[in-house]
Amino acid sequence: MSGRVEGKVAFITGAARGQGRSHAVRLAQEGADIIAVDVCKPVSGTDLIPASTPDDLAETADLVKGLGRRIVTTEVDVRDFGALKAAVDSGVEELGRLDIVVANAGIGNGGETLDKTSEEDWQTMLDINLGGVWKAAKAGVPHLKAAGGGSIVLTSSVGGLKAYPNTGHYVAAKHGVVGLMRAFAVELGEHSIRVNSVHPTNVNTPMFMNEGTMKLFRPDLEKPTKEDFEPVAKFMHVLPIGWVEPVDISNAVLYLASDESRYVTGVTLPVDGGSLLK
Ligand SMILES: NC(=O)c1ccc[n+]([C@@H]2O[C@H](COP(=O)([O-])OP(=O)(O)OC[C@H]3O[C@@H](n4cnc5c(N)ncnc54)[C@H](O)[C@@H]3O)[C@@H](O)[C@H]2O)c1
Repeated sequence: MSGRVEGKVAFITGAARGQGRSHAVRLAQEGADIIAVDVCKPVSGTDLIPASTPDDLAETADLVKGLGRRIVTTEVDVRDFGALKAAVDSGVEELGRLDIVVANAGIGNGGETLDKTSEEDWQTMLDINLGGVWKAAKAGVPHLKAAGGGSIVLTSSVGGLKAYPNTGHYVAAKHGVVGLMRAFAVELGEHSIRVNSVHPTNVNTPMFMNEGTMKLFRPDLEKPTKEDFEPVAKFMHVLPIGWVEPVDISNAVLYLASDESRYVTGVTLPVDGGSLLK
């Protein structure tokens, strides 16, 4: 076999569904074993997005096993460093090594302008979408050093490179991920550990395809449908699309995780249909 990440082990957060599941499957298709974590329950009183479940995480595990790869799953909240570290440590004990960290878990909550955002929504957002990304990478670093190098991919967003209204706390957290990525990159380069961020536009996952998010696009409508918001979503892009599929982000993650990008570090890689040009 000659998979693009053959023999490597990847630790992925937020792997129960959406992009995290897709990353697990895509990396497994190319020969990696997976350490997968997800909280699998609601994390905030004002979630815009229905929560994932233990069954979702089990489905990710089945998909990876169906490809003939090994996977270790744990229900963990990325805000809990001790639990994250325990999950990674025992995953490495079972699978033998760690080469790749994909800090992907994230939420959308609130949906207000910044002057109306509650302190609770702000704090939960920063704790998960920035603090949780730091903690996931931090938990992986000792194992990457032990392996003699590796690749860390942090999931930001187009909202980490430009601003949108009604989700300023998300924009602030995702811009923070860029700072985190750059700081990790300069600190870890001497250990041959590369650190980059991916910046998806709208992705066809439960985070995007739900009523709360659709309402951010169409605040003028009481109950917007997919058909109502598709033209607005299309307007955001240069290419004639309203969103991309999870595998489009996974292919970028795969490149950054593989040795094909061996001298690429400190990069902000958009997968955005040209939305940053608008
Ligand atoms: N979907 C989009 O349009 C879009 C666009 C740009 C960036 N992103 C980012 O991509 C990443 C993945 O999102 P997605 O689209 O797959 O959404 P999703 O809601 O389908 O999946 C996110 C997963 O993260 C998990 N998660 C949330 N909080 C967690 C916590 N505290 N601890 C552990 N797991 C937690 C959820 O349970 C869920 O399974 C997020 O960081 C998101 O901000 C998404």
